[in-house]
Amino acid sequence: MRVLGIETSCDETGVAIYDTDQGLLSHALYSQVEMHARYGGVVPELASRDHVRRIIPLVEKVLEEAGIHSKEVGGIAYTEGPGLIGALLVGVSVAQGLAWTWQVPSVGVHHMEGHLLACMLEDNPPSFPFVALLVSGGHTQLVRVDGVGQYKILGETLDDAVGEAFDKTAKLLGLSYPGGPMIEKISLNGNPKQYKFPRPMVNRPGLDFSFSGLKTFARNTWEASEKDEQTQADVAYAFSEAVFDTLFIKCKRAFQETNLDRLVVAGGVSANEQLRERLSELSGEVYYPRQEFCTDNGAMIAYAGAIRLMAGERKGLSFHAQPRWTMESLKAI
Ligand code: KG4
Ligand code: ZN
Repeated sequence: MRVLGIETSCDETGVAIYDTDQGLLSHALYSQVEMHARYGGVVPELASRDHVRRIIPLVEKVLEEAGIHSKEVGGIAYTEGPGLIGALLVGVSVAQGLAWTWQVPSVGVHHMEGHLLACMLEDNPPSFPFVALLVSGGHTQLVRVDGVGQYKILGETLDDAVGEAFDKTAKLLGLSYPGGPMIEKISLNGNPKQYKFPRPMVNRPGLDFSFSGLKTFARNTWEASEKDEQTQADVAYAFSEAVFDTLFIKCKRAFQETNLDRLVVAGGVSANEQLRERLSELSGEVYYPRQEFCTDNGAMIAYAGAIRLMAGERKGLSFHAQPRWTMESLKAI
């Protein structure tokens, strides 16, 4: 089955075609980052309007690049949630409109399930069960994964998501949006010995996280400094190191608690090389999607949707989006 995947949950319009026999045929992405950068973060209304502008040309592009006619599409998968409601509704509407026009089934995909399964598009995919560390702009979760749709949340953030903490810290340091890649870049010039930030919640049992205090620690350090370029790099380094060390400690603990030794890391922050280096110290296997599929993309939605469509899941022609949606409520395949 050839599945058209559509992702519009936030500030990236992602479209792809996944073939259940041949794998990923094509994918295309339009990032709105530049548009939102001047406001220092995502402006939801602008995001929705831009998805409307970009989505149809992207669908045409992936069909052309896959070398197929729309008649050869056997199903449509779209991000149903979680995400920005207006942005989600653009994807839902286009997907359902096309499903009706082409008379093919459609399915709504959970955005974080998409991230979690993105590494299945790689040559050496992990086998179930595994622990997943999901680190994006809106989520920070450790999940026990026993199969598609079999998710148990082991721990999650009580306040800011990791990506969100990166974006806010970057803003504080005067860096542009999105902050994660900027912090990664400048932290390479940071002096590792200059600052030591705390590791939040590591002395408490359990697998939950909290990153808002670390962000405040970064603010206080920055405010008390010379606010020069070197301090910027030093704060960026110390902040990243504290976040990644905390994630490392909790992943190690998740291995102990589950008796598993396979980790899948996904979501925007998983693109970070400093994080990857730190997690390579875990005793076990660690899997990542390729860099371009760490952040939002249509390929992961096409893949997750294809699995669900093949299992007979159907959405019907409802125009339903779920801005908040827990992964634990998903159907097991
Ligand atoms: O998964 P994603 O593209 O969108 C959401 O579902 O939220 O993640 C975006 C987040 C942003 O907060 C961004 O700053 C962060 O991922 N991010 C990074 C890096 N690349 C993206 N954080 C740290 N290092 C990076 N290289
Ligand atoms: Zn995402």
